[in-house]
Amino acid sequence: MSHSADPRPMTSRRSGPLKGEAQVPGDKSISHRALILGAMSVGETRITGLLEGQDVLDTARAMAAFGAQVERLGPGEWSVHGVGVGGFAEPEGVIDCGNSGTGVRLIMGAVATTPIAVTFTGDASLSRRPMARVTDPLAQFGADITTREGGRLPITIRGAADPVPLRYRTPVASAQIKSAILLAGLNAPGETVVIEAEPTRDHSERMLAGFGAQIRSETTEEGHVITLTGRPELVAQPVAVPRDPSSAAFPVAAALIVPGSRIRVPGVSRNPTRDGLYVTLLEMGADIAFENPREEGGEPVADLVVRHGPLKGVTVPGERAASMIDEFPILSVIAAFAEGATVMNGVAELRVKESDRIDAMARGLEANGVRVEETRDSMTVHGMTSVPGGGTAVTHLDHRIAMSFLILGLATQNPVAVDDGGPIATSFPDFLPLMQGLGGDLG
Ligand code: S3P
Repeated sequence: MSHSADPRPMTSRRSGPLKGEAQVPGDKSISHRALILGAMSVGETRITGLLEGQDVLDTARAMAAFGAQVERLGPGEWSVHGVGVGGFAEPEGVIDCGNSGTGVRLIMGAVATTPIAVTFTGDASLSRRPMARVTDPLAQFGADITTREGGRLPITIRGAADPVPLRYRTPVASAQIKSAILLAGLNAPGETVVIEAEPTRDHSERMLAGFGAQIRSETTEEGHVITLTGRPELVAQPVAVPRDPSSAAFPVAAALIVPGSRIRVPGVSRNPTRDGLYVTLLEMGADIAFENPREEGGEPVADLVVRHGPLKGVTVPGERAASMIDEFPILSVIAAFAEGATVMNGVAELRVKESDRIDAMARGLEANGVRVEETRDSMTVHGMTSVPGGGTAVTHLDHRIAMSFLILGLATQNPVAVDDGGPIATSFPDFLPLMQGLGGDLG
């Protein structure tokens, strides 16, 4: 929901060893997709472990506005009675996706091949973000789309009455673009094909297959090719949402940088398309064990056991960026405590997230005494044995920037402040009590 809530300044302070178990919330990407596919299928989809952050609640509200019956049965437990592929009704009001790029881009895809008119809006952060990367391919299905200057929100889509399928090579590695096209392809006849240079998170493909769509992924000389057959009858499925590796990254980082810490983070998704941070941390020498590997809700998961220890700087190759795209802010915090420099390559996409994350991290780290270099598509953080802190980070309505700097302050000499922690509720509503429960001094 877009709201102009007053900024909520927060501060974190040097803390003693962190101990205990961190039950992080459900995966945000999978939560959005469970609600959307539930709404596009026939029958009742029961979801457990749904992330009840504002981003996902906005998607739930949107699905209800299209005619799906969406009900909260208990904490994280939701029921969706869908209307079937092509069954969305025209909503009476504007669809407000708040802060969520995933929400708005995926839902625009889901409506682009159904003959209804829908206007989308969002908060100040979302209204600055590029949408042409999604509206351009959706227009090629036959949708009629009007955007504000520069392809920004608000956007009105009149879905195609007579859609044609699409074969599309994504210009940047983005699961949101891929997923918007696949969701649009559901109500187009024939085969819709997405080609990506680097594989991006594959939750849409996994879940579409689970709901009975015909979908296949292959690596050819063209790249990573996903082919979906349109007009399936999607059949409602139970969805058990695993815990979010991107949210787990915050307590994991805290345990790595606060001396004497040892924590356990159970049931975290280890989907290889999301695993880049953990690969990088092991290269840095981090003490992380992955216990009880198993399958939950169609995704590989494990219990993480993390201990503080010495870390060294590494170079993160550009090809790994897609598999850890949301984790660079917290990696740059961890890197401040490593020996030597950590170089992050191929990260230009960070400039169009909820904020320009390269700029936000560089300015905030510098304000806390850390040396950072940046180019358009890279960032280098110079680690130090003792990080001064004492600065205030500007978070630009970006939940991950706020959480990253609050984690930083748990291990700096002086407290670290953020100007606004309010947006943390979009993805990790219990972040503060969870970190306090481990022994962190923040609030
Ligand atoms: C997401 C994809 C990523 C990621 C976002 C969630 C998704 O965005 O940053 O937080 O659920 O598909 P891009 O696909 O634009 O890189």
